[in-house]
Amino acid sequence: MDVPWWREAVFYQVYPRSFADSDGDGVGDLEGLRQRLDHLQWLGVDAVWVCPFYPSPMADFGYDVADYCDVDPLFGTLDDFDRLLAEAHDRDMRILIDWVPNHTSDRHPWFVESRSSRHSPRRDWYVWRDGGGPGPGGRPNNWKAAFGGDAWTWDEASGQWYLHLFLPEQPDLNWSNPEVVEAMHGVLRFWLDRGVDGFRIDVVQGLGKDHPDLMDDPPGTVLPRSSFNDHPSAHPILRDIRRMVDGYPQAPVLVGEVYLLDTAQVVRYLGRGDELHLAFDFTSLYAAWDAGAWRGTIERVERELGPVGGWPTWTLSNHDNVRHRSRYGGSEDRARAAAVMLLGLRGSPFLYAGEELGLEDAVLPAERVVDPGGRDPCRAPVPWDPSPGHGWGVEDPWLPWPPGPDVRNAETLRADPSSILHLYRRLIAARRASAALRGGDVRLLPSAPTAVVWARQAGEDRRVVAVNFACEPVGVDVEGEWVVEVASDGTGEGGPFGGTLAGDAAVLLRPVSSP
Ligand code: NOJ
Repeated sequence: MDVPWWREAVFYQVYPRSFADSDGDGVGDLEGLRQRLDHLQWLGVDAVWVCPFYPSPMADFGYDVADYCDVDPLFGTLDDFDRLLAEAHDRDMRILIDWVPNHTSDRHPWFVESRSSRHSPRRDWYVWRDGGGPGPGGRPNNWKAAFGGDAWTWDEASGQWYLHLFLPEQPDLNWSNPEVVEAMHGVLRFWLDRGVDGFRIDVVQGLGKDHPDLMDDPPGTVLPRSSFNDHPSAHPILRDIRRMVDGYPQAPVLVGEVYLLDTAQVVRYLGRGDELHLAFDFTSLYAAWDAGAWRGTIERVERELGPVGGWPTWTLSNHDNVRHRSRYGGSEDRARAAAVMLLGLRGSPFLYAGEELGLEDAVLPAERVVDPGGRDPCRAPVPWDPSPGHGWGVEDPWLPWPPGPDVRNAETLRADPSSILHLYRRLIAARRASAALRGGDVRLLPSAPTAVVWARQAGEDRRVVAVNFACEPVGVDVEGEWVVEVASDGTGEGGPFGGTLAGDAAVLLRPVSSP
């Protein structure tokens, strides 16, 4: 059986504002990304997920889309996108784009029309309710929005409330309206016809809503437990989308953001192999740097995904959360050990741009804060070289630099074979070369309580990954003779494994007999 490409791919997430700037305006753009494809190819990634670049008032930095079928001038043009896609394909890299189906911008012509009158033909494209009339007591229910405040805004002119699970500038679409479904399928087809290789789907857990009752949440409900999440009507929506994208020759992948923080619930969005291909399970992103937490996570993911034949995804960082190096305490040793872990797990790894440079979150003075969700620090621009503008053409881009850009930049780290950047490259190459790492099964091995050790196997091909979560050295006893293929601290690679791991270190081992 042919293995789908996305099972073996290493994914790389680009937040376009912060990745690379081609025109010196201090905001990254699509042409900047195209110019840095060399970096991604050298690193060895297979697929790039590009966060929203569509025309947008940027209330949520692009997750408030005003036109799904164009490029915001800040990021370039459709021609720039086509060039990026063609050049990525020339390099055997795939491009996924971010599709935001739960809500549009309040400036999207659909919402402008919907809002214009209660009798607008597009009124029912969004979720409008009378509630008890204007004023805080009149809200249709007690749902809370993700960035704080209520999930309803009163529209004075047309005299009704509209629903927004995020900002008031992000009204929720009504997916129970077939016209919305058709229009949004049209959006997917627009990009699939251009040749994109898949979609990262935003807020999948919110697509189905508790229509028409819109019941109150029980008192004390904390997101994501609200009843606007995880409604069963999301599943037929996904099945229809899956059927449509499966008809495309490029075998597009659907990767869903299913923000439920419960692996068993997330797995349901894979359906019977007829909904999402892949789903983000953020329980791993929130797992502490702790052996017990990670052993439990690996066991749980295997237990939940195994029976349905689901393929796991692994993410340590993204544009919504504190970077893992910062979360794990800031030490580069841990960031290196985490890289060995991420690329040694069973499933598709998703790297977040800059983690290969060991970037930490930026420290922002209050006057530089721009994001309503407090996520600026992990979105600091990627430094490309040691010059004062770090490859951006301006010294002070839209957000401040992450710590240490003079040394922690792509050019400087590439010149140093012992750097974390080279470690990521060696790990990705080792993964590509090993059937066991790409697609093999996983078996946890007995280990000291502060370590996690697992075996990967596909046919005759075998590997072992050992991670020490403690600051003190730990003994690792693996049956047989093993060679260190990649070490998080770079020591001893190519030599026999001596059975001890330094503090906060990890190794990838291959059997002595394998090439
Ligand atoms: C999840 C995205 O990752 C986040 O950045 C965004 O703010 C929300 N969805 C709303 O679209």
